[in-house]
Amino acid sequence: MHFNKLSGEVFYPSQEVIEKAHIKNWDELNEFATKDYLGFWEKMANELHWFQKWDKVLDDSQKPFYKWFTNAKVNVAYNCLDVHLKTPRRNKLALIWEGENGDLRTYSYHALHREVCKFANVLKSLGVNKGDRVTIYMGRIPEIIMAMLACARIGAIHSVVYGGFSVEALSERIEDSQSKVLVVADGAYQRGKIVPLKQIADEALQRCGTVENVLVVRRTGQPVNMEEGRDMWYHDLVNLPFITQNCSLEIMDAEDPLFILYTSGTTGKPKAILHTQGGYMVGVYTTLKYVFDIHEEDRYWCAADPGWITGHSYIVYGPLLNGATSFLYEGAPNYPYPNRWWSMIEKYGINILYTAPTAIRGLMRFGEAWVNRHDLSSLRLLGSVGEPINPEAWKWYYRVVGKEKCPIMDTWWQTETGMFMITPMPSVPLKPGSGTRPFPGIEMDVVDENGNSVKPNEEGYLVIKTPWPSMMRTIYKDPERYVNQYWSKFPGWYLTGDSARKDEDGYFWIIGRVDDVIKVSGYRLGTAEIESALVSHPAVAEAAAIGLPHEVKGNAIHAYVILKQGYEKSPHLAEELRQHVAHEVGPIAKPEHIEFVDSLPKTRSGKIMRRVLKARALGQDPGNISTLEE
Ligand code: PRX
Repeated sequence: MHFNKLSGEVFYPSQEVIEKAHIKNWDELNEFATKDYLGFWEKMANELHWFQKWDKVLDDSQKPFYKWFTNAKVNVAYNCLDVHLKTPRRNKLALIWEGENGDLRTYSYHALHREVCKFANVLKSLGVNKGDRVTIYMGRIPEIIMAMLACARIGAIHSVVYGGFSVEALSERIEDSQSKVLVVADGAYQRGKIVPLKQIADEALQRCGTVENVLVVRRTGQPVNMEEGRDMWYHDLVNLPFITQNCSLEIMDAEDPLFILYTSGTTGKPKAILHTQGGYMVGVYTTLKYVFDIHEEDRYWCAADPGWITGHSYIVYGPLLNGATSFLYEGAPNYPYPNRWWSMIEKYGINILYTAPTAIRGLMRFGEAWVNRHDLSSLRLLGSVGEPINPEAWKWYYRVVGKEKCPIMDTWWQTETGMFMITPMPSVPLKPGSGTRPFPGIEMDVVDENGNSVKPNEEGYLVIKTPWPSMMRTIYKDPERYVNQYWSKFPGWYLTGDSARKDEDGYFWIIGRVDDVIKVSGYRLGTAEIESALVSHPAVAEAAAIGLPHEVKGNAIHAYVILKQGYEKSPHLAEELRQHVAHEVGPIAKPEHIEFVDSLPKTRSGKIMRRVLKARALGQDPGNISTLEE
């Protein structure tokens, strides 16, 4: 290993961490996986269960529509649950859950399997079949995981909509996916209040027309409207005598869809990223095993929400495929007090914590004393995801939370990639703010406009040059957009939408998005969604949204609004517009600031130049404005 040759500030793993790690020598694994990446993925696939093995590991005859593990037969939910039942893991905890109100539930692998089978039987009783879409809209409660796995078991395609999204965001996603069933909770606890999920869903359902049945899980117990013939309580159905804990599973083709997940793109409406069974399973299983170094006795906590890709891959599928004990909580990091997380780590003896920089920065503000009153000595590894982590937050996390003994896995990846792409492993020397190098077997680069690699430390487009098993397969129902958005700027390479630089040691440093995606508190939002919510308000003629740096959130949304004739600008109207965006898209999309303007900078073809707005707001030079209309 070239430990001593690295430039800049470097944090080396302790001997103890290296000794425990599955991968003690990253270079060795990397050499093997680089020489023969198909052999590497095949070896990993062989650690999982298949009803029938593949003809070919990779079929790249129809690029960029790659196929992995062709003709193999598999079921991901079977690999998450059933396979463990024949091992000593049967009675091991699969899931520990703590509600915001102090509720505690635990499920062994046996118990989770039982609950998932019952859930699947309920879905079947509603007529859900292989290939049908099911939208899931819930808070962080065990049933969200059960609903996802139940779909996977019977071959239905789940489409989870984050519980922080609101009416329009939900209805748009239901409509686009043509879901037949909506699984929703009555409400969710959040900072001592109740988010009325069922009520939001009712409003969303008035705007779209495909849902035949709504399955309602009781969480908060507040009164909700139940539409006869359409809405059913989950607890009523699951207790019917014919809902047993045996549920036959669907044998799936490796390339059958597993789920769709909506994410914000460069332009227009959110798009449904499609992931399939076999490759996705192999990718998330392998990356979690090696990066978070899952051992039998570990208690692992990914503090994300199951409604985002981080939750799909690393709360639900990755940990269960690895037979790990996963922790899930409902609520917020700082409610009722800023020690909620630290007290849970101590209480449940968490060994691995995986979260986002925004959460670290938020908790940092409350000071070290809140952390130090708890015994966090169970922690072995830490993780970060969602946005670049600033070195100051990295060091606080490392020193105050990890007591300088827990390496930080800064994982760069996307909804589209399905799994970690740039990431350290525990035995890799770290530089605060860098995710180090691509996962073994994955070739990535930073290139200029013409596709040439840029010099060390120069900024450029981040691209992926080799296919990987858990790559998205397409945009659901829109293969053309898939090709255009990801594979046309540099044919043959996947365009990530991020800019980055690579230092002299080959370490990657992410700079940020180069498109119209704004990362707010690690959440991915599109300017288009915020703007279309604004113009759906009767007072608004035109709107433009940009992201500006924010100390805790990373970026905050600033919106510029042109009012229709007859409307007067006022602080009251600005507030009304902010609330309107929260109601339509979700509280996370609420603009930090709204400015009323008389015109917006546009190109001659009428495209809003957000770059110019941003430069103006930051007091910077807007650069080339030759295409500006006036
Ligand atoms: O800009 C990058 C940023 O998040 C984007 C992907 O967002 P999403 O699909 O919502 O997935 C987030 C969780 C996987 C990327 O294009 N991003 C993600 N992880 C990092 C990051 N930026 C810097 N460092 C990271 N570790």
